[in-house]
Formats: sequence, structure tokens, C-alpha cells
Amino acid sequence: MRPGNNGLFIPGPTNMPHTLRQAMDVPLEDHRSPTFPELPLSLFKDLKQVFKLDRGQVFIFPGSGTGGWEAAITNTLSPGDTVLESVFGQFSHLWVDLCQRHGLNVETIEVEWGEGAPVELYAERLAADKEHKIKAVLVCHNETATGVTSDVAGVRQAMDACDHPALLMVDGVSSIASIDFRMSEWGIDLAVSGSQKGFMLPAGLSIIGASEKALDASKEAKCAKCYFDFVDMINANKDGYFPYTPATTLLHGLRASIDLLFSEGLDKVFKRHHRIAEGVRTAVDAWGLSLCAKEPKWYSDTVSAICVPDGFDANHVLSMAYDRYNLSLGAGLSKVSGRVFRIGHLGWINELMVMQALAGSEMAMRDVGIEIEPGSGVGAAEEYYRQTAEPVTLQDAKAS
Ligand SMILES: Cc1ncc(COP(=O)(O)O)c(C=O)c1O
Repeated sequence: MRPGNNGLFIPGPTNMPHTLRQAMDVPLEDHRSPTFPELPLSLFKDLKQVFKLDRGQVFIFPGSGTGGWEAAITNTLSPGDTVLESVFGQFSHLWVDLCQRHGLNVETIEVEWGEGAPVELYAERLAADKEHKIKAVLVCHNETATGVTSDVAGVRQAMDACDHPALLMVDGVSSIASIDFRMSEWGIDLAVSGSQKGFMLPAGLSIIGASEKALDASKEAKCAKCYFDFVDMINANKDGYFPYTPATTLLHGLRASIDLLFSEGLDKVFKRHHRIAEGVRTAVDAWGLSLCAKEPKWYSDTVSAICVPDGFDANHVLSMAYDRYNLSLGAGLSKVSGRVFRIGHLGWINELMVMQALAGSEMAMRDVGIEIEPGSGVGAAEEYYRQTAEPVTLQDAKAS
């Protein structure tokens, strides 16, 4: 047994607030009882507010983000349909793979890892598709593998500019409930999330927003589905029930999660994530290192993928951090394995929590021989957080 807490700074699962853990410490219950519907009905309603979805429906499936991808495509598309997706990291790559396994014809736009969704290239492909063969446009809003956030509203504008009728599907697994996400305003038809990132819960729920247009498309879609069928969910959900045994404990956690998000206020949640991320970026700069994200416009406020200098293996940094300091950082995945390590800074997090990740990263990097001025990143982040702290006077502090 290792004393003290494990420093959990992978980009999901994230740190779970004590109140959420307590909310899930409830007896198991009868999910067909007359009183059960109150909880799911309140969740369906409030999740629409989190997704900023005016009309349409939010689904809660037992599953994870991957299940959400599958539900989104199988409910709205048919084998042989063409979809368009840009690939710029492991998660956008995996969504393509899932589509292909369901018999979809995937047109990809390959982009260098570290860049985001190429709005101009989407615009070109869509404008060239005069016969409207493309049935869905897929975008990974926040590519967790590279720490890159994309301009979803820009992709919608590209679709509107050529009156393209395709569905817009967005992977919001590591963005929803942490950074700005506006499902209706951005004209998103399907938005996919999971419980273990911005919602600060264990993995186990796929949370999916569907627009009215997506719900209409689900009437024609021929992809094979059973467990993830929207129709079964719609029929049961309208009365607050599920077509099979729901993860009741997680639903209680989700209630507490949404309450917590609303009590802070979504805008403040987004601001907090931005500020925490800026502190991390200040530290990276002070270390003399660079992010995998190539330009500030791509910088993610939920995860930073940090490049180690040539000649070093980022996996050694990770194992040093874990073995010596009980600190979990995110590994570089696939193409960027060994090139980057990631700090997840989303969910229930504040300055001093992330300082733990910065201090541990700094120590582990020095341990593997990377030349870093001791305390440089930590010092820079400290200053950033001090200067941007909410104004509390010494008098206020004394009074409280
Ligand atoms: C952007 C993104 N999409 C999809 C997934 C897959 O989600 P899950 O691992 O919950 O199935 C992840 C997981 O980290 C992710 O970060």
C-alpha cells in the first residue's frame, strides 16, 4: 500500500468530488417502481441544459464514450452510407475505425497530429459533394490524444455555406461539461459524451444528445443495433424508465454531478478550466518545452500533451512519475507514444491540485535527465495563479 493519494491527472477518469461519491452511496433500488421515474426525468431535462440542446432528446446508455459513438452512428445511418471525418489523433482515428466496422464508407481528411479540424478542407469536400452522398460529418471537438480543441461552429458554417444536409456528429467526450459546448447554436445533430470526464463520475454512462433531425433520421437508419436502439429508449424514457436495467447508482451520481455543475455555473466551470489550463501552459513554456497542439487556437483547456525533447522517451517520464511519486499522467497514444506525456486538467480540479501534477512532472522529467531548471514550471504557474486569483483581501481572509 502506498501512503497518500494517487495524483490522478490522466484525462479521464478524473477526480471525483466527495459529494458525488456520497450521492452514489445509496441502497440499490427497484427501477420499475412508481417513484423511480422522478430521477431519470430530472436528468433528461437538465442534461439538455448542459448540452445546450433546445429541442431533441438526451439519452443515457450504460456504456462509455465508445458506446456513444456507436449509438450515434447506428441509430442514424445505414451500411454503405458515406461519412466525412478528419483524423488528427487517436480518438478521431478510432471513431473512423468504428464507422468502418459498421459498414460505412468513411472519407477521411488526414491532418497532422497537433492540428485540429480543418474547416476549409471540410468546406471543400462538402461543396464538391453536389449529390449529397455524405450523410454525416463527424468532428472530434476535443482530441484528448493531442490536447487539441476544434472549431465545431466553423464546421457547421462550412456545411451551411453549401446548404449541405448531412448530419453533424460531434465527439464531446472530453469537452462537454468542461469547456464551451453549444449543441443547438452550433447546429449539432448528435453529441457524444461519457460520465468519467467533465461529469466527474466513474466510467459507465454514455450520454448522447440528439437533435430532432437526428431523431427523424433514426426512423430510416438500417445499421444493426439492439442494445443502443434510440426507439426502445424513447419509448421507455418518456415515462422515466429504461428498456433494461439502468445503472441506478451512477444515475444518482449524475444527479449530484449536474447539481454541482449548476451550482458553480457552467460559465464559471469553463472559466475555471481555462485558467487552470493557462497555468499549465505557462509552466510548459517556463520548462522550455512545447505542446503537441501546434497553435494557440488549438489549445485544449481540458488536457495538455507535452512534448519531451528529442532523445528522451516520454514513457520513462510517466513511469518515473508513477513509481517514484505516485503520480498518474496520461501516456502518449499511438503515433505520439514516447513523444508526449499528457496532463489531464478537467473535472473537479483547482490550482493547487494541478500544481501537484506540475511539480511531479518537473521532478520526473529531471529524474530522466531532461534539463529543467528546478522549480521553473511550478514557479511560473504559481505566479500565474496568484496574479489571476479571485480578489480576496488579507482582511477578507482574516475575517473568514
Ligand atoms: C475524445 C474521446 N473520444 C472518445 C473516447 C472513448 O471513450 P471511452 O474510453 O469512454 O469509451 C475518449 C476516451 O478517452 C476520448 O477522449
